[in-house]
Amino acid sequence: MSESARISSSATAWDGMAREYDGDRGHDPVYVACVRQAVADLEPCGRVLDCGCGTGLATPYLHAAERIDALDFSARMLEVVQAKFPGHRVRTRQGDVRALPYADRSFDRVLVANVLQHLVPADQLRAAAEIRRVLKPGGRYAVTVHHFSLTKQRAHWKKQGRPGSHDGCDYIFRYTCEELAALFPNARIRAVGFYRWPARSQLLLTRLAGHWLARRGHGHMLCACGTR
Ligand SMILES: C[S@@+](CC[C@H](N)C(=O)[O-])C[C@H]1O[C@@H](n2cnc3c(N)ncnc32)[C@H](O)[C@@H]1O
Repeated sequence: MSESARISSSATAWDGMAREYDGDRGHDPVYVACVRQAVADLEPCGRVLDCGCGTGLATPYLHAAERIDALDFSARMLEVVQAKFPGHRVRTRQGDVRALPYADRSFDRVLVANVLQHLVPADQLRAAAEIRRVLKPGGRYAVTVHHFSLTKQRAHWKKQGRPGSHDGCDYIFRYTCEELAALFPNARIRAVGFYRWPARSQLLLTRLAGHWLARRGHGHMLCACGTR
């Protein structure tokens, strides 16, 4: 096993979380707002890759797509997707975002919601290149990641490593705005997810001030959106 495979998050850890995932993240209004904002920025159409799809939290918002390819390296996560979305419109595939099992220029849109933060920096670079490779020229991507916000820094959250005991995953990397911009130099980056604000204000705050808030270190997550 390569060094990066050993220290990035493991599929086994995600397998273990598949059953509880929807009850946990799916009922967190801030988390759901982040997923919805990423999909809104994506402007889904044509063939869409939901890369690191988990249990398919984003799938209901991707209805404008002609076809959805849902990829994850956790077999248990994919079983949940298959049970929730039977039929041909959502095609699941087990695979790794660091070496995507698709031909160059396959997709009109690529969504990567809350996945890259579970990779070590060298793997993040590999994944960013893969995202661009599978996009058609002019195709659009939206990538959300956990933000190493001022609030988290002041509360002494880890920058990277094994997250707190409440979280079952085995590796997280929290991004500054500059680190995300280095991975996606042409992207527009906005802050998403604000725990002190009501659910109904979440998307509005991002739309009105997301860019400004990201640059000042605010927001639970960051969303990078751009075209190939
Ligand atoms: C925090 S969950 C996000 C799931 C979904 N995108 C969402 O927003 O609800 C992270 C997902 O990324 C997957 N994942 C982590 N590393 C991966 C990798 N190297 N390749 C493919 N999937 C990966 C995990 O199995 C898990 O389903």
